[in-house]
Amino acid sequence: MSRVPVILDVDTGIDDALALLYACASPEVELLAVTCVSGNIEARQVAENTRAVLELAGRGDVEVALGRDVPLVRPLVVAPETHGPRGLGYAELPAALMPVSQRHAADLIIEEASRRPGEVTLVTLGPLTNVAVAVLREPLLPRLLKRLVMMAGSYRSPGNTAPTTEWNVHVDPEAASVVLSAFGAPELATRPVALGLDVTERAKLTQEHLDLLADRVGLHRDGWHGSRTIEGLPRDPSEPSSQGALIVRFLADALRFYMEFHSRYDGFYGAFIHDPLALAVALDPTLARLEALRVEIELGGTLTTGETVADWRRTWGKTPNLDVAVEVDADRFIQRYIELVGDWLAKPGSDGGFDEDGRMAARTPDVAI
Ligand code: BDR
Ligand code: CA
Repeated sequence: MSRVPVILDVDTGIDDALALLYACASPEVELLAVTCVSGNIEARQVAENTRAVLELAGRGDVEVALGRDVPLVRPLVVAPETHGPRGLGYAELPAALMPVSQRHAADLIIEEASRRPGEVTLVTLGPLTNVAVAVLREPLLPRLLKRLVMMAGSYRSPGNTAPTTEWNVHVDPEAASVVLSAFGAPELATRPVALGLDVTERAKLTQEHLDLLADRVGLHRDGWHGSRTIEGLPRDPSEPSSQGALIVRFLADALRFYMEFHSRYDGFYGAFIHDPLALAVALDPTLARLEALRVEIELGGTLTTGETVADWRRTWGKTPNLDVAVEVDADRFIQRYIELVGDWLAKPGSDGGFDEDGRMAARTPDVAI
C-alpha cells in the first residue's frame, strides 16, 4: 500500500488526541511529524499532551515540534472549561519520555514539504498560527505541499466560541487570513479544504459508541463496566497485554470530561469529534461533499471578529479561495472510527508500535532531536 505522508498541526486537546489515535491506527498514514500550536491549551502543554498520547499509542518515534506559542497579533485565549486544565479532560498520562524536536514547527513544515515536493498533506486541527508563520517564511509553501486540510470555521451554522465564530479561527483570525490569502491564491492548482462546524458537529460520539469500541478491543463488559466507570481497566502501563485497554481507559477519561461539557452547553451527553473527522476526510475525500467558495475572515468586527464570511451567492464576484465541506457522511465516519481504532487496539503488534506482549515498542527516533 502506498502511504500518504501527513503532518498534523494540533492543539491537543481531547478531539485532537482522538485524531492522533486515528492517524496511528490508519495503515495508509505515514505520520511524518506533529507540530504543536497554542489553542485549547498553551503550546508547551500541547506538546506534552501530544507526545504522551503518541507514546501511549506506541509512536514515540514521531517527531513532535513546538511552534509559536501566541497568536500573530492577539493575546492568547485557551479553553480549559472545554478540554480540562491540562487539555486532556480527566485523563492522566505518564510524562512523555521523548524530547521535543529542536526544529521550530514552521521550519519543520517547510523542510518536510521541500524534501518531498507535492507529496505531503498538512492537516491542521488547531489555530492556524504555525501555518501562517510557515507561509510567511516560505511563500512557495502552497506549491510545495500536496494539500492543506483544516478544521476551521463555521460557514452556515452558528459559532461555538462567539455567536458567529469557531474556536480555531477565533483564537488567531489574522493567521487564518494569512493562510487563506496564500493558499487560496487563484493561480494555484488546488484550493485548501476546510471543515467547519456545519459538518463537524454532525460527528457526535456517544457513550454507546465508546462501549462499541471497547467491545471491539475485546474488553469484557464486566471489566469495562459498560458506561461511565472505568474500574476494572488496568492502570499500570507495565502490565502486559494491557495497551489496548489503557488506551480505551484514556479515551474514557478524556471523553467523560468532553461529554460533560457538551451536556452542559450543547444539550446532549456525547461529544463532537471535530478533529478526527477533518483527518478522516483528508484521507478519504468521499466522506464529504465540498463547495468552492470565496471566504474572507472578519478581522475588524465589533461583534464578529474571527467569523468566516462565505460568499454563498457570489455577490463579490471573486474567485473561490476555499473548498468548504457542506455535507459529510457522519455515520460512516463514526463507524470507521470505531472499527479502525478498535481493531488496531485489538491487534497489538500489527502496526502501531506494540510488541507481542502489548507493550509499547521502543523505537529509535529517525530524526535528530
Ligand atoms: C475546534 O476547537 C477545538 O476546541 C477543537 O479541538 C477543534 O479543533 C472546534 O471548534
Ligand atoms: Ca483542535
